[in-house]
Amino acid sequence: SDTVTLGIFGGGTVGGGIVEILTKKRSHFKLLTGKDIVVRKICVRDATKSRDFELPDGCEIVTSYDDILDDETIDYAVEVMGGTTDAKDVVMSALRKGKSVVTANKALIAKDLAEIEGVLASLGAEDAGAQFRYEAAVCGGIPIIRSMQGDFVGANVKLMSGIINGCTNFMLTAMDRDGKSYEDALSQASDLGYAEADPTLDVGGFDARSKLKILMRLAYGMDVDEDEISCRGITELTKIDFEYAKTLGGTIKLLGVAALNDDGSKVSAFVSPCYVTNADPLSSVSGATNAIEVVSDNLVSSIYIGQGAGRYPTANSCVNDIVSLARGDSTPLPFNPKSDMKFANNYESVFF
Ligand code: NDP
Ligand code: HSE
Repeated sequence: SDTVTLGIFGGGTVGGGIVEILTKKRSHFKLLTGKDIVVRKICVRDATKSRDFELPDGCEIVTSYDDILDDETIDYAVEVMGGTTDAKDVVMSALRKGKSVVTANKALIAKDLAEIEGVLASLGAEDAGAQFRYEAAVCGGIPIIRSMQGDFVGANVKLMSGIINGCTNFMLTAMDRDGKSYEDALSQASDLGYAEADPTLDVGGFDARSKLKILMRLAYGMDVDEDEISCRGITELTKIDFEYAKTLGGTIKLLGVAALNDDGSKVSAFVSPCYVTNADPLSSVSGATNAIEVVSDNLVSSIYIGQGAGRYPTANSCVNDIVSLARGDSTPLPFNPKSDMKFANNYESVFF
């Protein structure tokens, strides 16, 4: 058919952005893909809530998952509602029904990617045309997933390190540079659509840890238990910490780091606020911007910087996935197939 129809689960920050971009660029995407990409249904919790985006012609707001899942005219399911319970059911069910799935849900991917890939394999879903894409799940608008799946295929990754949560980086910038209180900074980050529905995931470092786990799976083929990754958030930081950092000639950034040990047999990882000197490029990465350095044998140091959170950067990555599916691009391979790489929770010995 020359039409691709979408059902979107979630009409909030990201869902609204996806609808807006698809509407604005509809004719452009038609030229690019040969398909008319049409949003048919959007599933939300509260159908009476006013939306901050325009509903496309012929698009319905629904509140039952089955309105999308059981609709055989819907080709792709886009999951941008968040959470790991209903979202998982929706993703699994859509794949089983032969619908390709695009999601931005890092919590779900970090927890269940292996199982999702198992379902795809067991269904032979790729043969049936269903695919699974999740570019927006790590670092919002930065194309880090496709880079890991493509650019590093011939390289050995030694280190992945950087700012991988936009909400907390926005908060740290506001607290350090503008002297904002923790509470004001968090409330502003939420208003701007950077925070998770449960901001504990951001400020506790857990969102960054989920992203780190996904990157570790891509780089090393390992499926580490997230709880084993040492994780400290920014909740205990106070004004005095920033003053000390300033006196020392630097600032504080929440970093996610994963590193291979010298003999290449183990990976260590952590999420923690870190002192960063003013000479380090990370010190000037401000607001919801993310920055991640990937060190590898072939490419030495590759640094990716871009918007890590917010409506349009995130929706842009989801739309890229949708357009890539509509173009009939083949499923990207995981960078590394499943391996028995060991996890060593001894990052102190590796880094300090
Ligand atoms: P929002 O809270 O803004 O939107 C969530 C949407 O999902 C709302 O429209 C809500 O409905 C709907 N929803 C939530 N639960 C249900 C449910 N049980 N049944 C039906 N609808 C439901 O979240 P975001 O758009 O910010 O985030 C969505 C996903 O994208 C999350 O997984 C998040 O981690 C991820 N993400 C977000 C980024 C960001 O910068 N915001 C960046 C990268 C990824 P209603 O409006 O009626 O309440
Ligand atoms: N809450 C997340 C962040 C959204 O601030 O990075 C993007 O993943």
